[in-house]
Amino acid sequence: MNEKLAIYPGTFDPLTNGHISIIKRALKVFDRLVVAILINPNKTPLFTLEERIFILKDIFRGEPNIEIDSFNGLLVDYAVKKNASIVVRGLRALSDFEYEFQMALMNRKLNRDIQSVFLMTDYKWFYISSTIIKDAARCGGDIKGLVPPIVNEKLKQKFGFSKD
Ligand code: PNS
Repeated sequence: MNEKLAIYPGTFDPLTNGHISIIKRALKVFDRLVVAILINPNKTPLFTLEERIFILKDIFRGEPNIEIDSFNGLLVDYAVKKNASIVVRGLRALSDFEYEFQMALMNRKLNRDIQSVFLMTDYKWFYISSTIIKDAARCGGDIKGLVPPIVNEKLKQKFGFSKD
């Protein structure tokens, strides 16, 4: 079978409902999706790689077409290693476009066989990003409904707003 496999790479620090929406819709286009968390030694994420893997695996357990993985180095090299030729990214506001365009062109320069495919975010998640979620949660803001419950709980624990 000519199965269409795509990679959805990102930092996922943390996973938001915007990411989940892209993952679900990507699976309407592709047969299988590898959600690949970048291991970036230059950044100190709020959630460790293990925590991010745990959250993603928890949310997508029982979904045989979704694989949770991590990678370091070049995305295009990772895609080749996974035998995938498609990279999926979500687009929100126009401000995303410049960065995404730059990355897509660089990825194409590095490997012409890898295609970047963009899915537009749902209007509900237009304004959210992992960064703005962390900012709001850090100050005790209510982010219910913008992230899955497990992420909400873990953010409260991280920032000392947990009742437990
Ligand atoms: O969720 P993010 O932080 O916007 O994801 C960015 C990501 C992981 C897709 C991007 O940083 C990436 O692909 N990094 C791997 C290194 C790489 O391949 N760089 C060259 C292409 S720009």
